[in-house]
Amino acid sequence: MNVKDSWKIRVADALNRAAAEAGIEANIQASDIIAEIPPMPELGDLGFPMFSFAKLFKKAPPLIAASVAEKLLSNPEAQKIGTPAAQGPYINVRLNRKEIAAQILDAVLNEKTRYGRPGNMDNTRIMVEFSSPNTNKPLHLGHLRNDVLGESISRILAACGAEVRKVCIINDRGVHICKSMLAYKEYGEGKTPESEQIKSDHFVGKWYVKFNEMSKAGPAADERAQEMLREWEAGDAETVALWKKMNGWAVNGMKETYERTGISFDQYYYESQTYLEGKDEVLKGLEKGIFYKEEDGAVWIDLTEEKLDKKVLLRKDGTSLYVTQDIGTAISRHRDWEFDRLVYVVGSEQNYHFQVLFTILKKLGFEWAKNLYHLSYGMVNLPHGKMKSREGTVVDADDLLDNLAEMALAEIREKDREEAVGDSAGVSEKIALGALHYYLLSVDPVKDMLFNPEESLSFNGNTGPYLQYMGARISSMLRKADGTAASNGTIKPELLTEDAEWELIKTIEAYPDAVANAAAKMNPSFLTAYLYELSKGFSRFYHDCPILNAPEENLAAARLALSKAVLVILKDALNLVCIPFLEAM
Ligand code: ARG
Repeated sequence: MNVKDSWKIRVADALNRAAAEAGIEANIQASDIIAEIPPMPELGDLGFPMFSFAKLFKKAPPLIAASVAEKLLSNPEAQKIGTPAAQGPYINVRLNRKEIAAQILDAVLNEKTRYGRPGNMDNTRIMVEFSSPNTNKPLHLGHLRNDVLGESISRILAACGAEVRKVCIINDRGVHICKSMLAYKEYGEGKTPESEQIKSDHFVGKWYVKFNEMSKAGPAADERAQEMLREWEAGDAETVALWKKMNGWAVNGMKETYERTGISFDQYYYESQTYLEGKDEVLKGLEKGIFYKEEDGAVWIDLTEEKLDKKVLLRKDGTSLYVTQDIGTAISRHRDWEFDRLVYVVGSEQNYHFQVLFTILKKLGFEWAKNLYHLSYGMVNLPHGKMKSREGTVVDADDLLDNLAEMALAEIREKDREEAVGDSAGVSEKIALGALHYYLLSVDPVKDMLFNPEESLSFNGNTGPYLQYMGARISSMLRKADGTAASNGTIKPELLTEDAEWELIKTIEAYPDAVANAAAKMNPSFLTAYLYELSKGFSRFYHDCPILNAPEENLAAARLALSKAVLVILKDALNLVCIPFLEAM
């Protein structure tokens, strides 16, 4: 348990004892206690306001604080880790730096991978759907935000103990897919990604662009694409063969990008295999009277009571719609893998779609439907004129990654760090990912954002590379210390009492909470902010407190141990937000 929560329990207990003494019946819980950080460090490390108990005690808050402090002071166990005092309407606690330093260093250095694992989601099965691209064009900047949100939230939920299953549904059918197929069929002349030396999903995207040109010339192209979709649905051999070939190119190309960015899935679903699924459920719902049939034969649901609209679920020709398919896939996913929760990472332009979907599934009586969650995220753009993409408007994911890696490499060369870094191309790629992922995750998902490549790469701002640099710096110091007497000496955490040391210890102590918070709020930005705090804290410590040159060997040993603990947490948290760790940079 963290220090703050353990004090909440003590304060609640002291309040109950004070109440009992005054003949007041009280059942105050730890969750009723508010904990604050006092505005000035002189006041202590934790503060507990007593205002909310004035009514119960029929007493002024400072009087309550006085009697609670008295009760707390009579507990020798509490005294060991902190000194409580009544200050006006507050109970302020000055924590015992030596004792907490010892507890924290022990917890981090001896449990390592288990520290920062709150365990509050043990025995929960969570499915996370993310990325879910269409196979007519390559991944773009918006997908990069989606991908890193989905991957990061999955890692965070798993860190809290959940069993997580990452899934992706590939939209590989529909008229938009036929568009690239048609353009290729008419103008492709049998060219292939290999013959053209182009990444295979980019090759497919080129034909989608070509189709848009064809479409501008008149309605014929669009009609032919519709015709092609009918051929595909009828199972026409030639159309299906072309579809297989081009989808293979698209999907393989995307998988290369996932691999490059460290994104992975436990299962891929393909819409071509699932798109017929919702129909039966809709017919069952029709029998139960949840849906109704219009005169023309189309099946609808009226959601006006839920403050949503009327929605068609089966067209008059019996074909289904986007939402119908999602009804089917949600049900079959639950059948495949009984989840407690299902999270959809999908752009905010689909907010309405998911409201409708979740409402319908609840109406159909699925118990688990109340645990569906749309992790909605805003648009991401580049500042105007930053990078031209093939299509003019959308920024291609691979091109952007190439660009960032080139800029990182240029920086390494400029600083003459090629030799120190070793594999400069590999390191540049990791810096690019660190820059991108940190920038994308540090913004609240619901907000639209601009991605500024130069800013993201800055080595001394609130950026991914700054965090990577901090990790490299600590690693290099630990390498230097390796084998020295200080590195092998007995660790006396009680020597760590400087302000900078204490701040850093408190930040480490807050790590499990930061992980739990990011999971509860479905928002990795709590962890990017945490990482920045931790790095700034280390930087201050490094500046204020000589480590290898500490006046005494014991102190050097304790400071080295603190640095090791910071590195453990830094590595762990970087992994949760998909930023590669670097030994040197
Ligand atoms: N492929 C869709 C699109 O690009 C996103 C799919 C989202 N997932 C879902 N289950 N509806 O718009």
